[in-house]
Amino acid sequence: MKCRIDKSKCKIFLRFGKMPIANGFLKKNQFKKEYFFELNVGFNKKLSLFQLEKNPSPKKMFNENYPFYTASSKFMVSHFEKFSLWVKKYFSNNKKFKILEIGSNDGTFLKNFKKNYHVGIEPSKSVHKDAIKNNVNSENKFFNYKTIKKYIKKKIKFDIIVGSNVICHIPDQNALINNILKILRNNGLFVFEEPYLGSMYEKVSYDQIYDEHIYMFSATSIKKIYEKYGMKLIDAIPQKTHGGSMRYIVKNNINSKISKRLKKILFNEKLKNIDNFKGCIKFKKEVEKSKKRLREKILSIKSKKQKICGYGATSKSTTILNYCNINFKHIDCIFDTTPFKIGRYSPGTHIPILNHKLFKKKNYKNVFLFAWNHKQEIMKKEKKLKNINWFSHLN
Ligand code: TYD
Repeated sequence: MKCRIDKSKCKIFLRFGKMPIANGFLKKNQFKKEYFFELNVGFNKKLSLFQLEKNPSPKKMFNENYPFYTASSKFMVSHFEKFSLWVKKYFSNNKKFKILEIGSNDGTFLKNFKKNYHVGIEPSKSVHKDAIKNNVNSENKFFNYKTIKKYIKKKIKFDIIVGSNVICHIPDQNALINNILKILRNNGLFVFEEPYLGSMYEKVSYDQIYDEHIYMFSATSIKKIYEKYGMKLIDAIPQKTHGGSMRYIVKNNINSKISKRLKKILFNEKLKNIDNFKGCIKFKKEVEKSKKRLREKILSIKSKKQKICGYGATSKSTTILNYCNINFKHIDCIFDTTPFKIGRYSPGTHIPILNHKLFKKKNYKNVFLFAWNHKQEIMKKEKKLKNINWFSHLN
């Protein structure tokens, strides 16, 4: 268990209680040895940084069994294709740009850059193997000094370093930025997309908070952090992915100009208390209300002797289920497409995960949509099924 680097400056305001590893889908014979930790959330006022108090060691989370495959969602595949076009447009005057991706998963993004000098760094063996199958130059490692040493020795500097839904997973942001600066050229870009604090506040989607999401960034926090390192947040572009994310564009040159869009976003963060502790307190109250509402909904369905199933065994669902004390007694099963999860049980609450192909046959009338961030894609797929009470903790 690691402590946050700025723990002393971080004020704890929200306690979710004991939590298992969010992606730790397990077999029956592993129930007794299941690992739990206290999920506490705090805010660093100086950096406007929303963060966990402590997190389990990354090796506990991103190991050979890590079950997240970017390619499992058509929407995500198309998103990364569009993202790659955005990068290519930015470098239209320098077509031979060198690109490195931190947490390159199964290569869904990098396979769009096969003609460029490209490197993917991916610590999880399962998804790294798929990247190799995709002919992507993937290294099965964590992004750290040891991994980048060979590029420093060869004096290779990248024009752009990218990370999607991974930067907030890295406990030591200082070490991360120091390493980036060693291999990013002057005026080069560090571009990353992460779930956005503002979207989480708006939707009260507190299920974004789990072991892997050590930080929930805002434009204000990113601006403050990177300025300490002589880098400049020059733009921020809202994204629909993961229920509301932000693409941050940080330039390795403190004197760079910032976009109008970013100015607006920073202003909005002040207006909505996203940059200060007031926002945290409001969010905490909303989360407590949401828990009460959800428990009432589930207990009311159960009191009518009706059955409930889940759809999409997301990491996010681990926070909802454990925080709201909802388990296999309330929800019979969760349907999912991920081969690794099928036949296993949900972390902490031990709900069986079934093959999504059985969903139609089982004919459930109350469906908890845990994968609410894929609602459009899922509704399109299941539109023939009528009279289903789809719900989530968001409504
Ligand atoms: P994801 O969006 O990655 O959320 P998290 O980051 O919280 O894990 O997970 C989506 C999950 O939903 C994943 O296990 C695959 C599953 N899924 C389906 O079962 N059917 C679908 O149509 C889609 C899009 C996803």
